[in-house]
Amino acid sequence: MGKTVILDHPLIQHKLSILRNKNTSSNQFRALVSEIATLMCYEATRDIPLKEVEVETPLAIAKTKVIAGKKLAFVPILRAGLGMVDGVLALLPSARVGHIGLYRDPETHQPMSYYCKLPADTNEREVVLLDPMLATGGSAIDAISKIKQHKAKSIKFMCIIAAPEGLKAVREVHPDVDIYCGAVDDYLNEQAYIVPGLGDAGDRIFGTK
Ligand code: PRP
Ligand code: URA
Repeated sequence: MGKTVILDHPLIQHKLSILRNKNTSSNQFRALVSEIATLMCYEATRDIPLKEVEVETPLAIAKTKVIAGKKLAFVPILRAGLGMVDGVLALLPSARVGHIGLYRDPETHQPMSYYCKLPADTNEREVVLLDPMLATGGSAIDAISKIKQHKAKSIKFMCIIAAPEGLKAVREVHPDVDIYCGAVDDYLNEQAYIVPGLGDAGDRIFGTK
């Protein structure tokens, strides 16, 4: 059974409060999404596998550890997940990056798939899926299914704000996936927006509204 981790670190909570503010500019919003992604990534990678190596220091040979194997792939869900990519690559610059393009149908709120390009060696990697918003859960469920088709070694999902409905839905369909989020909000409104949330993450990152 995967775990659900609420990242209540004061730095994440502080930045999240600024992110929620409707008067925060796109410029500042983008920077904050990236910074929060870095902080979340630190926690989400706490248990990635290590292997022992020997390193020659100026004084002696140190038995020490480095990340094992082919490491990670980050997969943002377009568009809003793109805002988290720089932040996670700041910690793991040699990770691969896949892309999954989904948008929610405005009437049905169902995810509509328009793009999927994952690393050829996804089956040898731990995948971290990125999307700031987990609302109904439809997009995350679809993206996780696509990553599973590529036989990733493990899948984690990082979102900044989750709705209880979305968490439950992802848990039911993909119980093996670890979910990391900065906050669990109150509910979804009739348009399936998270309340209080932060509005439309893609529009706020890219200034399209
Ligand atoms: C937003 C968000 C998630 C999705 C979450 O994307 O970035 O991908 O909604 O909603 P769900 O949990 O109900 O599926 P959106 O569909 O608005 O696309 P965009 O990022 O391209 O604007
Ligand atoms: N997508 C968003 O960007 N915001 C929401 O509140 C729900 C889905």
